[in-house]
Amino acid sequence: MELESIKKIYAGYSNVYDVIFKGFFYPRIKHAIHSMGIAAGDKILDVGVGTGLSLPLFPRSCKVIGIDLSGAMLKKARQKVKKLNLDHIELLEMDAMNLHFPDNAFDKVFISHVVSVVPDPYRMMSEVKRVCKKGGRIVIVNHFKSKNKVMAGMEKIFNPVSKRIGWRSDLCLDEFIKKAHLKVDKKYKLKKIDLWHVIFATNNK
Ligand SMILES: C[S@@+](CC[C@H](N)C(=O)[O-])C[C@H]1O[C@@H](n2cnc3c(N)ncnc32)[C@H](O)[C@@H]1O
Repeated sequence: MELESIKKIYAGYSNVYDVIFKGFFYPRIKHAIHSMGIAAGDKILDVGVGTGLSLPLFPRSCKVIGIDLSGAMLKKARQKVKKLNLDHIELLEMDAMNLHFPDNAFDKVFISHVVSVVPDPYRMMSEVKRVCKKGGRIVIVNHFKSKNKVMAGMEKIFNPVSKRIGWRSDLCLDEFIKKAHLKVDKKYKLKKIDLWHVIFATNNK
């Protein structure tokens, strides 16, 4: 997907995103943030923050910067920040594949439901590793191709459609970990049958 089409798709979603997706996405977002081991004073980057479903979950004792390509999604996130008085959160319009931060700027990076959306997830991961401190934590929530052959076949067939509605469904988890050179500490699904993985990695740059 090209950046311009991603912007258009998510501009279209922005008003209805929470209504459609919160029920599906929120339980893993909540679990992942509560399990990230956030310490007081931590500087955290939320990549592809979207409408900011994650934002109320970050403790006020840390500093969070949320970035997103879509101004329309960020507008919704800004409304949450204002309504809930989330003074510890800053939101910036930015491409995850070209982060405007210095090296080693963050203690932890959170990336939820974005790996399958960006045009080049490996370029994004290389940027994430650059801006995260060595030994810092990278936490990913994402859908990956099923290991069940029937499901994987259906995901492959569905992929052109899913790309048109905003993400790819054919990304293989093992290949992603290998190509992104991720040092994974743990990866699991929240439920036995679940479409999304939660991945905790240590930045091993
Ligand atoms: C499925 S939404 C996930 C939003 C949020 N993280 C969540 O879990 O609800 C994907 C988000 O990634 C953003 N996105 C896509 N490509 C991006 C890029 N190259 N840089 C920054 N954000 C991007 C989209 O604008 C959208 O807000």
